[in-house]
Amino acid sequence: MEIISPYNGDLYEGPIWHHDEKALFWVDILRGTIHRYDLKGFYSEIRLQDYVSSISPTISGGIIATSGRSFFIVSFNDGSVKEIYKVQEWDQRNRFNDGKCDAMGRYWIGTMNLEEKEPTAGLYVLDTDMKFRQILDNVTISNGLAWNSDNSVLYYIDSPTKKVFSFDFDIKTGKISDRKTISDLASEPGVPDGMTIDSRGMLWVALFGGGKVVVIDPKNGDIIDEVPVPTPNVTSVTFGGQNLSRLFITTAKIHLTNPDKNAGYVYSEKVNVTGTKVNICGF
Ligand code: BGC
Ligand code: CA
Repeated sequence: MEIISPYNGDLYEGPIWHHDEKALFWVDILRGTIHRYDLKGFYSEIRLQDYVSSISPTISGGIIATSGRSFFIVSFNDGSVKEIYKVQEWDQRNRFNDGKCDAMGRYWIGTMNLEEKEPTAGLYVLDTDMKFRQILDNVTISNGLAWNSDNSVLYYIDSPTKKVFSFDFDIKTGKISDRKTISDLASEPGVPDGMTIDSRGMLWVALFGGGKVVVIDPKNGDIIDEVPVPTPNVTSVTFGGQNLSRLFITTAKIHLTNPDKNAGYVYSEKVNVTGTKVNICGF
């Protein structure tokens, strides 16, 4: 496993592989930075004014980012940052956390309780017509999101439950129903955080505090494989590189009283499985 970030962060998160740019992007939520690293070895970053919790490629060419209580279009070509939507009613006990677009380009974004204790948070959607709606409430730390290949299922993580849930997903309306627990990670170390899905439909789940990524078969919840990471706080995982056969893993220093020397870097490893492309947002 190799380190690909030039230095470590406090809370590296939300890695995405940008197919057209052949580049990996990730964020440091607490520093409010977006980082870009391409296959040619070129590295750059942009800092926003507030926490940046998630990013996705978008049809207008830039990157869309959730920061503060708003959505921004960020361009690495000219460094511009443009607010496109601001959430009006905000519960001050929460902040934005993981987010991703679905195959219709809607932005799914979760919030988390800042103290990581109370179920004050939720899951929301920003539709491409700029309507913002709440999908779930009673969430504590909204985290990993992934859709199956025919977009009939949404997989979802609320970290403290230590479970991976599935919902029936209606791609036309963007509605979810019939929540089920597909995997209970109670006997695993740490809590499930970011998640991605491979081309076989298996889920790759980062274990925050668990020092690894586990691979779960959603049909029966079995852990079929795991990838050890040399530091405990593994925040998220995605596939990228040529043929989407390289794993990129983000890690964090937060919550460690004496962070180990490996904490907070972005790691990469070649795997024998291929991933799936991230959806492009419609903004
Ligand atoms: C959050 C962290 C949290 C972690 C574990 C991450 O997605 O951004 O603040 O500690 O999940 O629950
Ligand atoms: Ca996360």
